[in-house]
Amino acid sequence: MTPDLAPDLNCARLTKRFGDTLAVDDVSFDVPPGSFFSILGPSGCGKTTIMRMIAGFLDPSSGDIRIKGRSMAGVPPNKRPVNMVFQHLALFPMMNIADNIGYGLRRQGLGKAEIARKVDAALERIGLPGIGARKVDELSGGQKQRVAIARCMVLEPDVLLLDEPLGALDLKLREHMKVELKALQAAFDTTFVYITHDQSEALVMSDQIAVMNNGVFEQVGSARDLYYRPDTAFVAGFVGDANRWQGRITAVNGEAMQIETDSGLTLRGARHGRSLNVGDRAEVFVRPEAIRIAGTPEDLQHFDNRITGTVTSLLFNGAASRILVRDTAGEEIEVTLPQSGEYAALSRGDAVHIGWSGDQGNCFPAGAA
Ligand SMILES: Nc1ncnc2c1ncn2[C@@H]1O[C@H](COP(=O)(O)OP(=O)(O)O)[C@@H](O)[C@H]1O
Ligand SMILES: [Mg+2]
Repeated sequence: MTPDLAPDLNCARLTKRFGDTLAVDDVSFDVPPGSFFSILGPSGCGKTTIMRMIAGFLDPSSGDIRIKGRSMAGVPPNKRPVNMVFQHLALFPMMNIADNIGYGLRRQGLGKAEIARKVDAALERIGLPGIGARKVDELSGGQKQRVAIARCMVLEPDVLLLDEPLGALDLKLREHMKVELKALQAAFDTTFVYITHDQSEALVMSDQIAVMNNGVFEQVGSARDLYYRPDTAFVAGFVGDANRWQGRITAVNGEAMQIETDSGLTLRGARHGRSLNVGDRAEVFVRPEAIRIAGTPEDLQHFDNRITGTVTSLLFNGAASRILVRDTAGEEIEVTLPQSGEYAALSRGDAVHIGWSGDQGNCFPAGAA
């Protein structure tokens, strides 16, 4: 990704109203050539509406869309250099694979030999050479998915739009396809705009992710930015898991905060540049893996948050296993077990000491309780 190249896709102050619903609210973003850009957000936040505007199926209420510098205002969908892959891929069941992939090329009026050459090259690219004569229902779900992408890619779009394309697949295949899609994007060197409500898809595949909520982009950044430096409480809560507490700020020292939670705990946190003052309501987020377990409180001396609690659940998940610890306020705190296996033998009812550094407690302004 070269930052100084003109963006393949530029959306400026894009807005869409449906009656009283503001589905997309003044959204601006750039997608550099050859990059994988995801829009991540809960159902109903406006993702598909953005895609449909880019594809030309919906007119924006206001704002502009440019593809490779050219405004798309008034350009019909079939004249735009974009293609769209939907959740339910509509491969034609009566056609073989080659005819499916060549469908758009035939509509463009290309000659038979050229279509055959392009179809073969596309099958090669997706790692399925020589399957052109097969029927759609002879392929696995993942193979169909690849064919659906090949069918778009033979048209050589400047931008490929993918609307939750893995949504209908089972978990195992979805995990596999994440890796596959990223590889396909690199192989075709095409700009992908991918929308999903599944954070793990977005985190694994994307160069840049926009986190969307209620029609607006809350933050645009790399997976690491969003995970380690969320700009808003929504992003902190939506991307990755976190323990969270609401309360009031009782002391401020530079970036360091002290919070009295509504449940009665005194916690240390950090505001990381956000505006928070004594007396403000705040929300603190702490990742399960930021919390350490120890046999004695002395082992946690260097942490400014220390809690003694009781194990209430063991959530075994291989290397990602966690426990739930009930604190003195009666709340459950989710804690990642160390990979060393040191605490693998903990059981329900055991007393444990947990601690974390105040720097790991991400504080955000919060509304009234
Ligand atoms: N054609 C439409 N007419 C009226 N409201 C719509 C239409 N399309 C979408 N909406 C509304 O716009 C909002 C965003 O929808 P959508 O873009 O489909 O969200 P997402 O894809 O993130 O689930 C929702 O409140 C939805 O009900
Ligand atoms: Mg949608």
